[in-house]
Amino acid sequence: MDNQTDRRSFLLRAGATALAGAAALQAQTDKPIRLAIVGSGHRAWAHLGILKAMPQYKVVAIADPTPANLDKGATLAPGAKTYSDYKKMLAEQHDIDAVVVITPSFLHAEVTIAALDRGLPVLCEKPMATRVEDANRMIEASKKSGKLLYIGFQKRLNPAHAKMHELAMQGAIGPIQMISANLFRGDWNPASWKYTDPKTGVKTNWRYLTYTEGSALLEDGIHEMDTMNWIMNAPVARVMASGGNNVYKDRQTIDNASLIVEYETGTRLAFDFCLFGSEAGPEARRMVFIGSEGVMMPEDGKVVVRKHRSRPQYFDLKDNAPKIATVAGSSAQDPETYHQYLLFAEALKGAKPFVQPEDGKKAIKLMLLAEKSLREHRIVTWNDLPA
Ligand SMILES: NC(=O)c1ccc[n+]([C@@H]2O[C@H](COP(=O)([O-])OP(=O)(O)OC[C@H]3O[C@@H](n4cnc5c(N)ncnc54)[C@H](O)[C@@H]3O)[C@@H](O)[C@H]2O)c1
Repeated sequence: MDNQTDRRSFLLRAGATALAGAAALQAQTDKPIRLAIVGSGHRAWAHLGILKAMPQYKVVAIADPTPANLDKGATLAPGAKTYSDYKKMLAEQHDIDAVVVITPSFLHAEVTIAALDRGLPVLCEKPMATRVEDANRMIEASKKSGKLLYIGFQKRLNPAHAKMHELAMQGAIGPIQMISANLFRGDWNPASWKYTDPKTGVKTNWRYLTYTEGSALLEDGIHEMDTMNWIMNAPVARVMASGGNNVYKDRQTIDNASLIVEYETGTRLAFDFCLFGSEAGPEARRMVFIGSEGVMMPEDGKVVVRKHRSRPQYFDLKDNAPKIATVAGSSAQDPETYHQYLLFAEALKGAKPFVQPEDGKKAIKLMLLAEKSLREHRIVTWNDLPA
């Protein structure tokens, strides 16, 4: 099966499952997939709210060392056992079918590998890891155990992104020659978990430290970069970036950057990112693909393709929209994450995962190369970080 047929069949199967509605899902004879959640912070609470509305899943355990966060997670998963230490959970609880890793990013590799080594499949939040070497160890652990490792790039499932991928695969704008995109957003959540420096005892928001966040570009912007990589579907040759701290100067991680990525095809991608752009309005998230035959971008709730001397063609997004509304009580706030759980369930049953671990690794490697380029003030090549 080629990429596109693959993706279509995933979406169709997922859509069909969802369309069946809550009643039909509850009537399924399949037992729910029993999940353990590691990390019960802001993102986990969104996962748990969605999982509560999905009869395909049952959260049986939650691990988090922060008591208030663990308690909040527990209120969203009645009946789940709670642990302050995920290692104890993995050692003691034997009714787990799969583990969802939603810790601060520097812990993704450690927790994922521990779960895979125990023979449990894993859904790991983006970014896959904070170092390429860790991503390699995660892929190795998945291969060794023969267990699924699925990376949480749910924004590929955004209906406009999925439609642009479909159109690009059909050659709607010819070979892509340039990509222009940006993400202008507000600052990180000040209530994020605080990392305690073992030497000094100083506690710092984990998103402010290079060790715990890896790079601001790993924390956000990586969704867009993965989506553009997915649509572009070509190896990266070089990355050049400039960036720094123009507004939030009292932290290690940057608050703005401009990236240029050169693919081996000669295609250039320009991406601007900042954490002080919460007022950017409709310009906050932009993604434009320019091919040799036309230009493609999201516009007014559709995707538009414009070609020389032709009328613009508008593509409706309804067909790609997750059917979350059919499941009573589920959150409509994050339909892509809901859709991702449908695809994760399919992958657990043996379907080819919609997102591969190699995609997770490619995205982090690209962003880590950009971080390296902006720190070292030089153009870096794909081989400047481990294969
Ligand atoms: N896919 C998305 O759109 C998306 C959105 C937001 C966050 N994320 C990712 O989710 C992850 C968590 O982000 P967040 O916003 O929930 O952060 P957060 O700071 O709100 O929560 C992190 C939680 O991890 C817990 N934790 C710390 N050490 C732990 C350990 N050893 N074992 C278990 N739990 C531990 C903390 O106590 C805290 O409750 C990050 O990797 C982030 O990049 C993804």
